[in-house]
Amino acid sequence: MTATPDAKPLKGLFIRTYGCQMNVYDSERIRDVLKPLGYAPVDAPEGADLVVINTCHIREKATEKVYSELGKLKQMKLASGGKMTIAVAGCVAQAEGAEIIRRQPAVDLVLGPQAYHKLPEMIARASRAVGDRLETEFDTVEKFDALPKTRDPDGPAAFVSVQEGCDKFCTFCVVPYTRGAEMSRNVDDIVLEIRDLAAKGVREVTLLGQNVNAFHGPAPRLEGGADWTLGQLVRHIAKIGGIERIRYTTSHPRDMDDDLIAAHGDTPAMMPFLHLPVQSGSDRILKAMNRGHTADEYRDIIARVRKARPDIAIASDFIVGFPGESDADFEATMQLVRDIGFAVAYSFKYSSRPGTPAAEMHGHLSEAVKDERLQALQALLRDQQTAFNEAQIGKTLPVLVTGKGRNPGQMHGRSPYLQALHFDGTDALLNTLVDVKITSASLNSVTGERVRAHEPTA
Ligand code: 5AD
Ligand code: SF4
Repeated sequence: MTATPDAKPLKGLFIRTYGCQMNVYDSERIRDVLKPLGYAPVDAPEGADLVVINTCHIREKATEKVYSELGKLKQMKLASGGKMTIAVAGCVAQAEGAEIIRRQPAVDLVLGPQAYHKLPEMIARASRAVGDRLETEFDTVEKFDALPKTRDPDGPAAFVSVQEGCDKFCTFCVVPYTRGAEMSRNVDDIVLEIRDLAAKGVREVTLLGQNVNAFHGPAPRLEGGADWTLGQLVRHIAKIGGIERIRYTTSHPRDMDDDLIAAHGDTPAMMPFLHLPVQSGSDRILKAMNRGHTADEYRDIIARVRKARPDIAIASDFIVGFPGESDADFEATMQLVRDIGFAVAYSFKYSSRPGTPAAEMHGHLSEAVKDERLQALQALLRDQQTAFNEAQIGKTLPVLVTGKGRNPGQMHGRSPYLQALHFDGTDALLNTLVDVKITSASLNSVTGERVRAHEPTA
């Protein structure tokens, strides 16, 4: 490598990320976009030249956090003599950018999720105190084209965005408004990014999208150029040298097509884990949510997925206390959970979001009812998660080693089922795949011993 004669002095960049994996990915890309400008990541906001808050709008609580965080940053900015630049990115910026600027004048820049490739230009404008501080246009194609094509991975597992936005319009959800219409990247660009990551040591990729299984990106010209499905994309990525594990998240039951289900059974790189949010087990509530499927249709999809890959771990999301949810509706959700048996699940109290159809519906429930239902659901889900983890005891699983464990001499990794896993080992194993025999399990992780010979029992 040759030194760049005009290399700029390093400036401290602190990024705080809230919300989903898409935001985690976006924060990485923000770091990549700013690197050529001389910004290097720092561990704390104090003293940073640029602080980016990457926000989440999905529930009210997540949104409230933004304003309290901005209050603290304002004090730091004052202490720095105004040297700190504060940028608000992500879905709150998209949904209420003008409100942020009004409520917190210390904020220098506000940019929506489709605009962070414009950050360098906005920083330049802010330093000259000219032009608009708000950038919330939707132009996903322009963003993907403008982002750097290569990046430095953090370890052996990386996220790769393949699809963004959502056209499903579930009545409770802000995503179609904050992330915009559904859009898929083209396969050539995705493959280029993954090949580069593989060359830099990445072994596992998680294909990301708000509705990732609605993927319909243009295929390479040599392959005919027509739009591919996620199943076709996965099979293609499985052929890239060095990529041993493929995951995708998050999917919608309506887009679980036969080929994608088949790929779970016939593509060895496809990991046995499926995050398929169902939200409710009541047909009446599913209809009011505009989910476009019934509880039995969900059961049927899971049965077909399990036929293709019997050991697959099923994950889901649930909302309790949707407007009009009766005791019987909630019981239908509990029954669905008992019928399926989830390896892990995320459950939330319904949170009314301004501008969504559900916010205008009748029958909003009290916090007390929502609390009670959430506790009952979470107790059942915790039992299922513990049972799933305990069911691995005695099995030998291939583990991707991602870091050091909490205790000395311990390493940390992830199982095919996305469980956090600890075992005794040395740093030399970092970023490799090793076989670990599971000896104990708890709610949030499993522990095991490394075995030398490959003796799978899963
Ligand atoms: N209230 C509560 N939970 C919500 N989610 C999305 N919107 C809301 C809302 N208004 C949950 C859904 C979704 C997950 C990402 O967040 O379960 O799958
Ligand atoms: Fe939101 Fe529904 Fe789209 Fe998921 S599918 S992002 S819950 S609107």
